[in-house]
Amino acid sequence: MFQKATPRGQVRLGEIVHVDVAGEDVALYLVDGRVLATSNICPHAYCLLHENGVVYGENVECSCHGSTFKIETGENVNPPSSNPLATFPAEVRDGEVFIDVSAVQAPPSGRTEAV
Ligand code: FES
Repeated sequence: MFQKATPRGQVRLGEIVHVDVAGEDVALYLVDGRVLATSNICPHAYCLLHENGVVYGENVECSCHGSTFKIETGENVNPPSSNPLATFPAEVRDGEVFIDVSAVQAPPSGRTEAV
């Protein structure tokens, strides 16, 4: 079920916006004009992406240890993480961003990998 996350205007190019949606720690990004949503928790050692992430085009790098993920799919494109970043469906309606945290599109972040 989609739930309201934040006004669309809060999500800006190159920034990572942290929102809590139904208790889920979510990071929002603007990529190619689209709002995308991932877990805010890096699956490598649980650093928070809104504090430690850097956006490079369509990827986000976790500066804690350098793991990099494709924002749209959560695919891990650079180690040390070998797990993907969880992603969520995002929609913009009437100037508001809605996220469906029940439709997680990758394994939940950071539950299976040691530091
Ligand atoms: S916690 Fe993100 S790369 Fe290690």
